[in-house]
Amino acid sequence: MENVLNKLIEENKYLTKYGKVADYIPALSNANSDDIGICIMDIKGNVYSSGEYIKKFTIQSISKVIALMLAILDKGKNEVFQRVGMEPTDEPFNSFYKLELHEEGKPSNPMINAGAIVTTSLIEGKGNEKFTRLLNLIRDITGDENISYNKEVYMSEKSTSNRNRAMAYLLKEKGLIEGDVEEVLDVYFKQCSIEINCIHLAKIGTFFANKCRTLNGDTHYPEGIANIIVAIMTTCGMYDFSGQYAVEVGIPSKSGVAGGILGVVPNKYGIGVYGPSLDKYGNSIVGYGILKGLSKELGLSIF
Ligand code: DON
Repeated sequence: MENVLNKLIEENKYLTKYGKVADYIPALSNANSDDIGICIMDIKGNVYSSGEYIKKFTIQSISKVIALMLAILDKGKNEVFQRVGMEPTDEPFNSFYKLELHEEGKPSNPMINAGAIVTTSLIEGKGNEKFTRLLNLIRDITGDENISYNKEVYMSEKSTSNRNRAMAYLLKEKGLIEGDVEEVLDVYFKQCSIEINCIHLAKIGTFFANKCRTLNGDTHYPEGIANIIVAIMTTCGMYDFSGQYAVEVGIPSKSGVAGGILGVVPNKYGIGVYGPSLDKYGNSIVGYGILKGLSKELGLSIF
């Protein structure tokens, strides 16, 4: 397996120069655009990895998957999806003009920023407690008590994110989020700044592949949550590229703008890929290439 991973990195590394590291969150622009890492773990816990798989980066939008899980655990599926849709969209991840098209318009899905801010607001707890609960859930799923957040990236986004701030206030005005808008945004920026590596992502993937069971078997959440998460990842996880991605890769996935991609192959594997050079959709350009190759090589498409 390691030979396959090495080969995929070699074959795809040329792609990094066709992408661009995110700089709208200033601290993210410090990333090395040539970095590539991969880790794949089967549901028995066997791990295979290559490249910069230990290097840490911020989870960014991949945290939306965990926030959705926690909101559903706290409030139930019906209450969550009353406030955020479950339909894919052909708009970029940070678009929100559609909220204005209908009076009751809610964000299309929990993977775009507007939807994710609603999801985060639905997590139980006052202020920072929401964040602590989300962080503890990630620690529990990965079995790593040391996972924390990157203060520089957090502050960098908090002090520049006028677009997210604008959409959060609009969501509040529409009655889709409750409580203090700045508090909700603070939790959202912190959750996006949680630092992980490819091994952590592979463990999160294995957890969902294993229907919400942790590897040591200690923790078991309702397995119906995995079905919802995997379905939403398949249809919405790669934003307005999700359709082509399903055709070419066929692995339920979620990307983050720091360059991570989480992959879930139900009943089989969890996958973590890192490559901070992004395509125009905000997805890791080399991550896409590698997952496409891996899917062909191992026959991983769910379709
Ligand atoms: O809210 C933002 O814009 C970022 N914190 C997260 C966006 C993101 O990761 C988009 N994914 N590729």
